[in-house]
Amino acid sequence: MAPQVMQAQPIQALSCQGISVRFGHFQALNNVSLDLPPGQTLALIGPNGAGKTTLINALSGRVAMVAGRIQLGDADISSMPVHRRAAAGLGRSFQIINIFEQMTVLENLRLAAQPRHFRRQPFWRSVAAWPGLAERARQVAAEVSLEAELDLPVAMLSHGKQRAVELGLALMTEPSVLLLDEPLAGVGQAEIEATMALLDRVRRGRSVLLVEHNMDAVMRIADEIVVMIGGEILMRGTPDAVCRDPEVRRLYLGSEEIVPYA
Ligand SMILES: Nc1ncnc2c1ncn2[C@@H]1O[C@H](COP(=O)(O)OP(=O)(O)OP(=O)(O)O)[C@@H](O)[C@H]1O
Ligand SMILES: [Mg+2]
Repeated sequence: MAPQVMQAQPIQALSCQGISVRFGHFQALNNVSLDLPPGQTLALIGPNGAGKTTLINALSGRVAMVAGRIQLGDADISSMPVHRRAAAGLGRSFQIINIFEQMTVLENLRLAAQPRHFRRQPFWRSVAAWPGLAERARQVAAEVSLEAELDLPVAMLSHGKQRAVELGLALMTEPSVLLLDEPLAGVGQAEIEATMALLDRVRRGRSVLLVEHNMDAVMRIADEIVVMIGGEILMRGTPDAVCRDPEVRRLYLGSEEIVPYA
């Protein structure tokens, strides 16, 4: 008999197995397992209430799981608090913009670096005193096209620019994996193209789990799509396969023709 060759499992950028979350008697996530390969952008789509934000919250440590395991690279992060997951390389953005509006872009970016710096800095030390932090904030601002707005209060920026700040906050801790929850939500038509281009730029060279209802963006940016319904994963496939799937069309996409971006 030929000896069996054991194939080594490739290490995923992020991987979860059997995540279940309950809010009282309501089962928001039921046994969800997902792998995010390094360098991939995986879009997570599904109707309102499907459990997409809850999954992002469970992965980032904001809601407690009743069951499940999460690995970031080869580290088990299942029982780590939010800030330790962030320090380990997990970045996230929020469905509802989550910024200090009266502070400037630069101040917001500096503050966002705390998870990493708290590991080795006393908490009372001024954020501004951390070496390299202002430099990192400037690099990130350039990456998200905010160099000109660095010293403006966030409240003065357009919605599209505020979304760029949100992305910047997630990038400050130098994450290997980014969880983005509807980064285009609330962005007006005039800014949508620029914000999509920004997303496309930011995802390159990173591993991204992207929750988004804007199917144009999903078709343009995602390597693969996962469809979630009722707290469970219905299907995973290429954008083309998912958009042609009759069940996905019936339950989420409707009959509208969605064609992959050229
Ligand atoms: N903290 C909470 N307490 C109770 N129920 C919650 C809580 N958070 C979410 N839910 C419920 O869990 C379900 C999943 O919500 P979730 O926000 O994950 O959906 P979603 O897929 O992100 O939807 P949307 O596309 O509208 O953002 C919904 O029925 C929601 O009402
Ligand atoms: Mg949501």
